[in-house]
Amino acid sequence: MATAIFYGSSTGNTEDIANRISEHLGNLDVYDISNQGLDPIKDYDKLIIGLSTWGDGDLQSDFEDIWSDFEEYDFSDKTIALFGLGDQDGYEDEFVNALGTMYKVLKAKGATIIGFTSIEGFEYNESTAEIGNQFCGLVIDEDNQNDLSDERISSWISDIRSEIL
Ligand SMILES: Cc1cc2nc3c(=O)[nH]c(=O)nc-3n(C[C@H](O)[C@H](O)[C@H](O)COP(=O)(O)O)c2cc1C
Repeated sequence: MATAIFYGSSTGNTEDIANRISEHLGNLDVYDISNQGLDPIKDYDKLIIGLSTWGDGDLQSDFEDIWSDFEEYDFSDKTIALFGLGDQDGYEDEFVNALGTMYKVLKAKGATIIGFTSIEGFEYNESTAEIGNQFCGLVIDEDNQNDLSDERISSWISDIRSEIL
């Protein structure tokens, strides 16, 4: 069994981060959720799942499309690290909320979630991705802080590497 990355991306930002994370981990399999849906997930016991937030705190549309299947899927034997993209300046009251929604569902489905990160360095009012004073995954803001993304990715990868590979 192995590790793969699954992402949903509307304008390419999450796709780009997914590919950068893959490179850091030695070129993992990377799946756009809009192409093959959930089917390939069964081939992996460790997953990295990434998505952006749209609307007012909503799931990225490709995840929205498959959400009822996603909620039914058995994640109980999976170790999962999450990453979410958002815009803390434009959406300060629902910053990366799709990451929070994803976490809540996976946790309820029995997944082991790893890779929480510090909220330091971000400015926002509210985020459902903030769990116990940490983000429930890697948070990337390409709209306002793309200069920090490399450092955030590297630091997160070094935290999760031994558990996710
Ligand atoms: C119409 C619109 C709505 C958005 N809504 C949110 C939001 O509610 N919360 C948030 O954190 N970011 C929001 N964003 C910012 C996107 O999540 C951000 O630009 C992200 O990098 C897009 O990634 P993608 O290209 O992979 O979809 C929104 C952006 C647009 C254009």
